[in-house]
Amino acid sequence: MCGIIGYIGKDNTVEVLLNGLYALEYRGYDSSGVAINIDNKISVIRSVGRVSKLEEEIKKLNIKDSIYGIAHTRWATNGEANINNAHPHKVGKVTLVHNGIIENANVLKRNLIKEGYQFNSDTDSEVIAAFLDYSLRDNSILDSIELLKRKLVGSYALGIIIDGSDELYALRKDSPLLIGIGNKGNFLASDITAIIKYTSDYILLDVGDVAILKNDSYEVYKENKKINKEILKSTSSNISNDKNGYSHHMLKEIMDEPQVISNLLDRYSNSDSWKELDLSEYKSIDIVACGSAMYAGLVGQVLLEEYAEIKTNVYAASEYRYKKKIYNDKTLVILISQSGETADTIAAMREVKKLGIDTLAIVNNSNSTIAREVDRKILTEAGVEIAVATTKAYVLQVCVLSLISYVTSYKKGLLKDKISYNDFYKLPDLVDLVIKNVDNYKEVISILSKSESCFFIGRGIDYAICMEGSLKLKEVSYIHSEAYQAGELKHGTISLIEKDIPVVAVITDKNLKEKTLSNLGEVESRGAKGIVITTEGLDDNDEHLKIVIKSTNRFLDSILVVCVLQLIAYYVALDRGCDIDKPRNLAKSVTVE
Ligand code: F6R
Repeated sequence: MCGIIGYIGKDNTVEVLLNGLYALEYRGYDSSGVAINIDNKISVIRSVGRVSKLEEEIKKLNIKDSIYGIAHTRWATNGEANINNAHPHKVGKVTLVHNGIIENANVLKRNLIKEGYQFNSDTDSEVIAAFLDYSLRDNSILDSIELLKRKLVGSYALGIIIDGSDELYALRKDSPLLIGIGNKGNFLASDITAIIKYTSDYILLDVGDVAILKNDSYEVYKENKKINKEILKSTSSNISNDKNGYSHHMLKEIMDEPQVISNLLDRYSNSDSWKELDLSEYKSIDIVACGSAMYAGLVGQVLLEEYAEIKTNVYAASEYRYKKKIYNDKTLVILISQSGETADTIAAMREVKKLGIDTLAIVNNSNSTIAREVDRKILTEAGVEIAVATTKAYVLQVCVLSLISYVTSYKKGLLKDKISYNDFYKLPDLVDLVIKNVDNYKEVISILSKSESCFFIGRGIDYAICMEGSLKLKEVSYIHSEAYQAGELKHGTISLIEKDIPVVAVITDKNLKEKTLSNLGEVESRGAKGIVITTEGLDDNDEHLKIVIKSTNRFLDSILVVCVLQLIAYYVALDRGCDIDKPRNLAKSVTVE
């Protein structure tokens, strides 16, 4: 959470910082602020709410340009979203922006208060500024930063300005941070999207690195020794912030799905590349992830068990870390993450690695901590996802798990259904068809957008799909929604069923169709409005409002249903006038535990 950017150079600093903040807004949007150097004095301008509010404030001030500055967009963790808690924080000679959480901030704060420091915010970040200012009394800047690193417990990416020094300082532990190297100056940023307008050359900072940026040079230090780091180049096609004419990033990203699926399938069209997907050496798999990525794992669990015959469990990363782990000699842990920066998933990965268990990541961001630290990875390559609610990255996570199950089943000689790899190539066109048929979902959209509560029910793989459909709807439309295993509803939750409450049954599994339909009947007889989303051939029940999609095979049908559910969530949120790309209280990348 939180996005940070810093710039030192010849371009208009305020403009660079604001552009960067807009690009980083997906990481948090409770408040934002900049600190800039004007006539050798640091001015801090902060505002509650979106970056556009900050821009208005800055315009009112009619400020002169600055030679360097740092800026921040916040997702509140320590302290509510108010002006005092907004970054940057200035204490004494130190002004900084912070992404992360300092676990020992209270202890440090108590000691600093004894030294005479006063605090204006509830944040842990202000404590970092005070500690650094205190250390600077007796130490050089670099030594003070080293002391700070030793003192802080927790995660941080920091951009720092120190009065009297015309340099920017950057350091990180666990939260992401890179430095950008441009023709007209240098940058620090939480991710490359913030600076791609200005440069595609960047260096990823590793834990413990300290970067010093001047307008025409930069240095990176590790433990006070200067080191050389590889300069990477970003390909801008993958990180465009453009909505391509669509009204929202979420819609644009759903529209991207046929193309990104097709790209993924091309990557594995040659059976030599199947080595990456073949998990036949493993006897058990734990899938560990958060939110939608975990729900992608639930689809994978059904397919891996059914086709590859590998016992598979799925865990929320926040739980997995603390549970007793029971591994056999051939266990694989699969981490799934779009951002590759989700704190709980990273922590789970590190713990598993320490135990010597093999790890595989299905990850979208190739520069991320997970992509860099995991034993082996499969990149989803969905391109950048800007909308806070994941769509195309989730779909590719499911596609990768489908391909893994298919290839592993094939390698183990278990594939009984007559499915060839070419069948997967039908998917992009079918997703395209689902998108084009949006008029067929209008009645369902209209019913849901008038409801304050609804349920999704399904069995087996259809339950996994319901989990994602329900999450998508609730996070963007704010309608209360729950997903249930269809047979479980009557064990308590059915008491919530009232007249006209929508219950959406997902049915793609012919063996479970009758069971799910009878569960739907149970709630309909108590007044619920039943809706069925199903595949051709399973749609012979006329009494329900239905959405019917073209049936393909078990590896693909779930992906098609999810696309329908994503579109429904989008249009329901649109009907309700919600802030679709930036739903309240959320941020794209959850870098706190
Ligand atoms: C929901 C959503 C979240 C993420 C979750 C994990 O639309 O986007 O539930 O799936 O926060 O994030 P990553 O995949 O970045 O680890």
